[in-house]
Amino acid sequence: MKIAVVGTGYVGLVTGLVLADLGNQVICVDKDQNKLDMILSGTPPIFEPGLEEVLKRTLKSGHFTAINSIKDAVQASEVVFIAVGTPPGEDGHPDLTAVRIVAAEIGKSITKHTVVVNKSTVPVGSGDMVELIIREQGVPAELYDVVSNPEFLREGSAIQDTLRPDRIVIGAKRREAALKLMDLYAPLQSQIIVTDLNSAELIKYGANSFLAMKISFINALSRVCEMCDANIVDVAQGIGSDSRIGSQFLNAGLGWGGSCFPKDVQGMVKTAEGLGYDFDLLKEVIQINDEQTINFINRIESHLSGLNGKTVGLLGLAFKPNTDDIRDAKSLIIIEEILKRGGTVRAYDPVAADNLKEVFGEVTYCSTAYDVAEGAHAVIMVTEWNEFKNLDFERLGALAKGKVLFDGRRVYNRRQVEGSGWEYHTIGSR
Ligand code: UGA
Repeated sequence: MKIAVVGTGYVGLVTGLVLADLGNQVICVDKDQNKLDMILSGTPPIFEPGLEEVLKRTLKSGHFTAINSIKDAVQASEVVFIAVGTPPGEDGHPDLTAVRIVAAEIGKSITKHTVVVNKSTVPVGSGDMVELIIREQGVPAELYDVVSNPEFLREGSAIQDTLRPDRIVIGAKRREAALKLMDLYAPLQSQIIVTDLNSAELIKYGANSFLAMKISFINALSRVCEMCDANIVDVAQGIGSDSRIGSQFLNAGLGWGGSCFPKDVQGMVKTAEGLGYDFDLLKEVIQINDEQTINFINRIESHLSGLNGKTVGLLGLAFKPNTDDIRDAKSLIIIEEILKRGGTVRAYDPVAADNLKEVFGEVTYCSTAYDVAEGAHAVIMVTEWNEFKNLDFERLGALAKGKVLFDGRRVYNRRQVEGSGWEYHTIGSR
């Protein structure tokens, strides 16, 4: 099938490349010429495991290219994906400016029947909005369909998630449009849920809100564990073993961050509010998440008898492992709070440090995990990269001023850490 994908962020580039790898003819569109140059030279502009390989392969096979003209891409394609960013707006509603601009451009370019697929995460009613914008460009109704096809990929495992999705959701008004997408996705042999536009849009917000709620729930329970000397890892295992609950997304830690959950939970609250429903439950989910990180910093501060004049080493900066994305990363709050409370920060991340440098010039960026401990009064595990999981604590301890470890992701074994002469503090147990 001939496909255009507008937007080369995580969703757009990964979707475009996977569809090209499956044998479709794909044109990705972006207005940023630097990004296009990188892509066309075989270098992905984002860090994502396995992406470079697929990019090089599909460029070589001729199934994939990237250009800056929406018009040329639309006119060469039967299906056009909108995969542009919908960042949080000032009032908590997502900012749909990019979606609107792209929809209008697509409308101006349509000359034959085109299925316009919205893959950007958008509030309920956005499919209708895109349909209207295209109509306003003078495109007759029979010449296009608008379909909602939300994306469920995770950064860090984006390719695998796209190739092996739990389900594919297609929201469409006309059967023929849904069938076109079903044909496109048939090689993935996944469960396909066909529904209306609004339901498809709500599935995406609902799924992300539910997952965030699961994490906030276990984090709230981790606070109770800290107070009654129970162990959240055992509690989560016991709860998650009930197949009606499931064990995934029950890892207690510093809380959820990234480019999706914070924006989408807020977007869900605002969408409900706009429709006349006060989604108090989700407001609490957000509050628990905010408190989780601050509570951990307060524990660190109190343990060190104040952060003023103290040096703290941070292991990991990205919002989660296997990505260089720092959007709403817990490291941002932790660094801000330590600096505000008079401390200094040494930090290391395998790939995300450069992005942090633009935000915090006053942090010392180290070139290895061990360097963060040099002169540090405490070390905090912030992002659970694999390379941190087998640290040599004797070596780390030789550099540190205070052998105190705060494990914000519950990756270490207390006995092992304490056996190396370190004090061990973590989330969800004393
Ligand atoms: C999330 C969803 O998982 C995807 O299904 C969705 O497609 C994506 O948002 C999106 O809307 O585009 P992502 O933000 O890449 O994916 O990352 P997750 O792996 O879901 O992690 C989100 C946050 O939750 C991270 O900060 C992570 O550290 C935290 N988390 C996750 C926990 O604290 N505990 C857990 O048990 C799981």
